[in-house]
Amino acid sequence: MFYNDINCGTKLDDGLLKDNEIIAEINSLKKQNDVTILAHYYQSIEIQGIADYVGDSLGLSKIAKEKTNSKYIIFAGVDFMAETASILNQDKHVLLPNPESCCPMAAYLTAEMVREYKRKYPGLPVVTYVNSTAEVKAESDVCCTSSNAVNVVKSIAKEFDVNSVLFGPDSNLADYVEQQSNIKCIKMPEDGHCYVHSQISVDDLKRSRELIKDGLVLVHPECVREVRELADFVGSTAHMYNRVKNSKIEEKKFIIGTEDGLMKRMAEDFPDKQFYPIREKLICYNMKKHTLELIKYVLENLDDPMFEVKVPAEIAEKAIFPIVKMLEIS
Ligand code: 13P
Ligand code: SF4
Repeated sequence: MFYNDINCGTKLDDGLLKDNEIIAEINSLKKQNDVTILAHYYQSIEIQGIADYVGDSLGLSKIAKEKTNSKYIIFAGVDFMAETASILNQDKHVLLPNPESCCPMAAYLTAEMVREYKRKYPGLPVVTYVNSTAEVKAESDVCCTSSNAVNVVKSIAKEFDVNSVLFGPDSNLADYVEQQSNIKCIKMPEDGHCYVHSQISVDDLKRSRELIKDGLVLVHPECVREVRELADFVGSTAHMYNRVKNSKIEEKKFIIGTEDGLMKRMAEDFPDKQFYPIREKLICYNMKKHTLELIKYVLENLDDPMFEVKVPAEIAEKAIFPIVKMLEIS
């Protein structure tokens, strides 16, 4: 599918008219209230459109810490992103429009499991992907995102003077970091993965290369090793975005191995390029639980405790250290 089609001028149907009305109301409510809206690249293009900032998980953590002065932060992302923003902004109200928007990968690793790994491997630093619970972060030495994982692992291994680290919960990212850094990443656990990226197969990649002969294949490090090794580029959502932004004029076609929302962002921002999904239905249904209607409702009910993400103080006090350490390394 050629996603630049979304830029075509077509007669608005009822659905789009309704969206436009809601968007106008959201923009007016935003002006009346002390609110910043953050949206991850995997949100629908309409939600990205009403956000003050759109980015990857590292970029949004930095914005939450450094650039947000408003009393309320509405976070159109999954729960771990809102929790991270809340830990970094304990004086602000961080709101998740759909409280059920969670990342299933985080459930692969519990704080008790981390304590068990630490007992088994004393002296090794614990590196946790931000796609984890606040309790797990509280047991960690440093966090990472897919943008900075290689640098974080190199830095913490040097600090601890070791050549192995404990890494979880994504086993594919652990494998990627190990390949890139030559530092052993002991997986916590062996099988943690993302259901969106791990469904991308070698067959998908080969089929799309056959269809789009001169397409460059860009995949996320949460993909399995066999897929990563056949791709032209491996990187986080922000790295993929920048790879396209900085592409040569003759690089016109890109086959995208990550969630659909990033492809739509790039199709809007780079209309002279063409984008193709590596396989159909690469949707993170957890990210897509937010809607314009829910965001409007939250803006009308900013003090409704149902939407507020608050990490218990005793957990937040510990979890802030590995998050800040990650931001210092990045
Ligand atoms: P990024 O850090 O690349 O934005 O990825 C977040 C994520 O959840 C990937 O599935
Ligand atoms: Fe979690 Fe995967 Fe969705 Fe990212 S794409 S939020 S890792 S389930």
